[in-house]
Amino acid sequence: MDKLNLLEQKRQEALLGGGEDRIKSQHEKGKLTARERINLLMDEGSFQELGMFVKHRSRDFGLDKQQYLGDGVVTGYGTINGRLAYVFSQDFTVFGGSLSEAHAEKIVKIMDLALKNGAPVIGLNDSGGARIQEGVVSLAGYADIFYRNTRASGVVPQISAILGPCAGGAVYSPAITDFNIMVEKNSYMFVTGPNVVKTVTHEEVTSAELGGAQAHSSKSGVAHFAAKNELDAINHIKLLLTYIPQNCEDLPPEKNYKPTDECRPILDKIIPDNSNQPYDIKEVICNVVDEGSFMEVHKNYAENIVVGFAHLAGKSVGIIANQPMHLAGVLDNHSSIKGARFVRFCDSFNIPMLVLVDVPGFLPGTDQEWNGIIMNGAKLLYAFSEATVPRITVITRKAYGGAYDVMNSKHIGADLNFAWPSAEIAVMGAKGASEIIFKKEITEAENPALKHKEKEDEYNELFANPYNAAARGYIDEIIKPRQTRERVIRGFKMLENKVDTLPKKKHGNIPL
Ligand code: HXC
Repeated sequence: MDKLNLLEQKRQEALLGGGEDRIKSQHEKGKLTARERINLLMDEGSFQELGMFVKHRSRDFGLDKQQYLGDGVVTGYGTINGRLAYVFSQDFTVFGGSLSEAHAEKIVKIMDLALKNGAPVIGLNDSGGARIQEGVVSLAGYADIFYRNTRASGVVPQISAILGPCAGGAVYSPAITDFNIMVEKNSYMFVTGPNVVKTVTHEEVTSAELGGAQAHSSKSGVAHFAAKNELDAINHIKLLLTYIPQNCEDLPPEKNYKPTDECRPILDKIIPDNSNQPYDIKEVICNVVDEGSFMEVHKNYAENIVVGFAHLAGKSVGIIANQPMHLAGVLDNHSSIKGARFVRFCDSFNIPMLVLVDVPGFLPGTDQEWNGIIMNGAKLLYAFSEATVPRITVITRKAYGGAYDVMNSKHIGADLNFAWPSAEIAVMGAKGASEIIFKKEITEAENPALKHKEKEDEYNELFANPYNAAARGYIDEIIKPRQTRERVIRGFKMLENKVDTLPKKKHGNIPL
């Protein structure tokens, strides 16, 4: 046979993966094939495949008679909106996308290239886990990937989409990557599946309940995004990349921006008269950042803190904000962990941070204490304290107790700290504070309730404002809410060339 024809014949064979019937069955499940996914993700014609003719080397269980070119994963590089990215896409039509030694080697190859060349790695996961027939070499392959995930962490962005099964130890690669996007209906992640769960704990649970997109995006926080379908998942990846640099030495991409009047009078009307009434911090965020640019991360998980990316005068920023609409914006175990991980991502990849504060403190209770609020709150404190990117804080209302310190206060390295006139910066709320310090006077009063109210007002007058903190320079300026966008844009411009380094160390010991 003519050599060119042979090449073409082999290429066609590889393009078919596990064959037409299995492709049909993949489509019937409402899933795309590995190659269709890559075509949606990468710029047209930009994908360069590597390792199309790789085969497994297994001889046991009749595998020597079952060979598929590419061995269940399509790997390579190309561009996404013009920027270089590496991708692997598991092919469920070949042994259920299961990971063999050769399959792992292909993934490792592009991860090594990504690390050397400083570009993101995108993993499109759809796999039955370790190739059962291969035994320990498959486990070794997983470990080779986990090792590289860890080495690459903080060097190049790593994004995982879970578009099918991802079970057993296989979950630990996505878990180490920076963002997980799960698709509703067809994806699940768990360390042990429903059958094992039933045997061990007698719980009856479906795969979706145990580890579907809904569970992981709202209960465990394993998934940062739940996408409606595969196209939506791929669009999430593309959008995410518009805020993120190629590597830790690079700056995030910029959007075109024409300066206009940055005054936002609507912000003056957001804080309710009664300081215990909630309001939606997302309304503040959306009126401070460039219109329509806010991309929320972990939207349905630990909703008492809001995190996400936005553009501000065309430049990428990370937003971390307490949400008074949910549990009064209190810090608890989950919100502290969510905030800390996001802060560390931003700091790793040179994304400045804007922190909006309205926090009544840490959530009390045995549940919180026994589940480690001390260690978890410390994670957020530690993450902010070690961040060297430009950091600006705006206190919109409450900043009480330890939570004032934790939420990017001046004392832990924030560069600029603003407060709205509605800010209340104190050790605790006036009701609780007056109860403690005026206990004797209140109990001995003719009308204790009236006395308490009087003392509460007195405490409020003295402390429930931003002026004491401003008098000490902890707050740089008390601004009208309408001025926030303009002040923050100007602040980040001033901080553009900020240089700050941590003391020489191997690495810190964040309280994990
Ligand atoms: C080899 C596998 C496979 C695997 C699936 N297949 N999983 N081959 N190793 N792990 C093959 C099937 O034999 C089948 O081949 C094809 O892929 C499609 O599988 P189906 O079962 O027909 O598909 P579906 O009904 O959609 O079910 C998908 C599935 C199921 C839920 C993933 O296949 C399954 O339970 N697989 C085993 C999962 C598992 O136990 N994996 C090992 C986990 S331990 P044909 O030829 O019929 O098309 C692990 C440890 C990792 O992963 C540790 C890392 C540290």
